[in-house]
Amino acid sequence: MQAPQIMRGSPVSLLLLRLLLTGVCIDAYKPVIIVHGIFDGPKQFKTLSMYIDKVHPGTQVALIDLYDNLASLKPLWKQVQGFRKAIYPITQKAPDGVHLLCFSQGGLICRALLSTTPDLNVDTFISLSSPLAGQYGDTDYLKRVFPENMKKKVYHICYNKLGQKISICDYWNDPHQQTRYLQSNNFLPVLNGVKPHTNIKAWRQNFLRIKKLVLIGGPDDDVITPWQSSHFGFYDSNENIVEMKNQEFYRNDTFGLKTLDARGDVSVCVQPGVKHVMWHSNFTVFTNCIEKWLT
Ligand SMILES: *[C@@H]1O[C@H](CO)[C@@H](O)[C@H](O)[C@H]1NC(C)=O
Ligand SMILES: *[C@@H]1O[C@H](CO)[C@@H](O)[C@H](O)[C@H]1NC(C)=O
Repeated sequence: MQAPQIMRGSPVSLLLLRLLLTGVCIDAYKPVIIVHGIFDGPKQFKTLSMYIDKVHPGTQVALIDLYDNLASLKPLWKQVQGFRKAIYPITQKAPDGVHLLCFSQGGLICRALLSTTPDLNVDTFISLSSPLAGQYGDTDYLKRVFPENMKKKVYHICYNKLGQKISICDYWNDPHQQTRYLQSNNFLPVLNGVKPHTNIKAWRQNFLRIKKLVLIGGPDDDVITPWQSSHFGFYDSNENIVEMKNQEFYRNDTFGLKTLDARGDVSVCVQPGVKHVMWHSNFTVFTNCIEKWLT
């Protein structure tokens, strides 16, 4: 009689049990890769990784420790290369793909990674309060880089070769200086395909490999301006909000957003009462907007 012996906990049964549990863990939860924002680093995401472990024990959570704090001001295309080197090997070890959970400026880095890497195996891309359609506002971040409240003048600093070496300038989108934005910003208008380039089709195909796009943001953010940029809305030249579906990059499907949406794979989660630096550490946000995607 083999069965009763196994139940009593022989070494063989323990081994079997362990194999079974390991197997279950690998099957159940895909690894989660977290990319931090500007002026922060992995440290700020300990709470979030605790939340993940609490609801999905055994999930492999990778907090990428790159371009932390002041180094987060480095040019974004350069950071994209660095993050690719760190993230690609993790995705290679995950046959069912990984989830990318990217905060604030990190959301743009992930967006760019997904468009410019042909074989990045990502299941769900969760963008946590990222300025995906750009930034135009006097915020705390700005004050730390530029001396005064001067959003109307920032384009002088940003829209030239030197300015483009500061990360914020790479997504500075001045609604009153669109000609200059298109001419001199070499990151966001290229990434969002509003500035023509030879890789548009390939980048769209790459981006469309994700299964799901989750956009999280809200009106009390106080940093991302306009806050609707967290789900691809932005100002027109009168500083009225043009929502995602009326943006030219959506209508022309320049980077795949319209196709994703038509597929039913864009999910928007708006949460009031959340300040920018709280998005990753608020359990209600986690349960309402993040948890269900991390399977
Ligand atoms: C969008 O499509 C229209 C019509 O084909 C075209 O004139 C315009 O240049 C396109 N804009 C972008 C950003 O691709
Ligand atoms: C947490 O998020 C909820 C909405 O999801 C919000 O009502 C609440 O004010 C937030 N709390 C903090 C401390 O951010």
